[in-house]
This record gives sequence, structure tokens and C-alpha cells, in this order.
Amino acid sequence: MKDIRHYPSVLAAMVGVEVAYHLAAQSNVIGAMRDIDYSFTTNVIGTFNVLKAASKCGVRRVVFASSREVYGEPERLPVSENASLRPKNAYGASKAAAEAYCRAWATSSGCECQILRFANVYGPHDRDRVIPTWLARARRGDDLELYGGQQILDFLWVDHAVRALIAAAACENSGPVNVASGRGVRLVELAERIIALTGNQSVVRPRPVRDVEVVRFVAEVSHMREVLGIEPPEDPLSSLHQMIDDA
Ligand SMILES: NC(=O)c1ccc[n+]([C@@H]2O[C@H](COP(=O)([O-])OP(=O)(O)OC[C@H]3O[C@@H](n4cnc5c(N)ncnc54)[C@H](O)[C@@H]3O)[C@@H](O)[C@H]2O)c1
Repeated sequence: MKDIRHYPSVLAAMVGVEVAYHLAAQSNVIGAMRDIDYSFTTNVIGTFNVLKAASKCGVRRVVFASSREVYGEPERLPVSENASLRPKNAYGASKAAAEAYCRAWATSSGCECQILRFANVYGPHDRDRVIPTWLARARRGDDLELYGGQQILDFLWVDHAVRALIAAAACENSGPVNVASGRGVRLVELAERIIALTGNQSVVRPRPVRDVEVVRFVAEVSHMREVLGIEPPEDPLSSLHQMIDDA
């Protein structure tokens, strides 16, 4: 694997590319807080390298995987794309900074840039996030640690995220698009669904809230429908069972 922080490697990878999907990142909040230098250099300088190399190589479009973390703790739900960006942690700040470079690049070079703001994506081979962590614990019959207890988040199965990425290569170039289910799931409900799936007797153990984490997020998804042609799922957790063997 090449390092996105190393510009010559990024430049070499960009030769002959028409659409660049930029997903490489320090990709979670707690990890980014543990190593803020790594999250800055990878997420901000890495994105800068992608944009610089893309315009040098005549790439038509960069599709950038941003995050709902750019909004921070929203003032109201659901959150539309024109809500203010008030990131609450180093990860959100790095994605907001990277987005700013994407927008500046799109106006100052010939390279288009489509920003997708993903909500909480889940799927096989995921690690360290709430769903894989709780699935693994519930399978062993261990307690599920719930930080806070009031959280409502917006989850999306990975297939939808992939469809959004593919659609973003060809859609009419627009501003940022939320990629989400548009439905809030209480984490208590998520825990119950996971425990029921495993058939074990795990219990939810409340822990103190972690200040860096966003407590409430539900996305407005009309833009996703119109720009990307993607319908949100009726039940955002309907694919949970597909992760059970992976946990
Ligand atoms: N999974 C989610 O819920 C979610 C939500 C919002 C946004 N995103 C964004 O979507 C993208 C993909 O997320 P994911 O869940 O697949 O994350 P992931 O951590 O599984 O994948 C990120 C990839 O980036 C690579 N990477 C990390 N540092 C690098 C570096 N310095 N140079 C080159 N590669 C490096 C990692 O090896 C990994 O393969 C990321 O940009 C992430 O920030 C994900």
C-alpha cells in the first residue's frame, strides 16, 4: 500500500485516471483524537495531494468521502447539506478542511469535485465502530457498553454507500450530498436488535458520555434522492444479520 501523504506516490497513481475515488483516511473519531497529527496529515495533506495530482493529470472528477462529522452537534434534525459546519473533534475538523480544499480546487482548476457526506456506514470486515464492536461482544455474551445513552444516529448499509460512490462519478456536479438513511436509530434500540440477533443474554451497560462524540444525527436525504438517484432504506438496520458471521 502506498501512503497518501507521499505526493509522488499519489501522482503516479493518478496517471490515466478519469475519476478518482478518494476514500483513504484516518477514518474514525476516537482514532483521530488518539493521533491528531496522523489524522491531519492523512486527511488534510492527503486530500491536498489527491487534488493536486488529479489536476496535474487531467482527472475529470474527484469523488471525496467526507463525513457527517463535519456538522458536529447539529442544531436541528434532520440535517441538510447547507447546515453550518461546526466539527466537534479532530476527525470532523480534518474532513471539513479537506472539503474546503475540494471546493477551492473545483473553482480554481478544471477538476470537478463531488463531496459525499457519509453517515454511519456499516458492513462486513468493519472494525472498531459501534456495530462490529457490539456484534462481537454480543456473540460472546458480553455486556454492550453504551456511552451516554441518549444517542440517535443515522446508519447506512455499505451497499448503499457503494451505490452512492458510483453514482457520484456521473451525476450532475453539485455541492455536498448527504449519504444516509434519513432515519434516526436510538443506540439503545440498536443494542436490543443486536442482542436479539445473537440470541444471547448480553445486557447494555451505561457508561459516561464521551464528549468528542456527536450525540444526535439524522440526515436530510432529499438531495441524495435527486442528485444520486438513490432511495434510502425503509429500515436502516435491515442488513445487520449479514454481519453476524463476520463478528
Ligand atoms: N465507515 C463510516 O461509517 C464512514 C462514515 C463517514 C465517512 N467515512 C469515510 O469513508 C472513507 C472510507 O471509510 P472506511 O469505513 O472504509 O474506513 P477504513 O478505515 O476501513 O478505510 C480507510 C482506508 O484508508 C487507508 N489509509 C489510512 N491512512 C492512509 C495513508 N496515510 N495512506 C494511504 N492509505 C491510508 C487505510 O489503510 C484503509 O484502507 C474514509 O475516508 C472515511 O473517513 C466512513
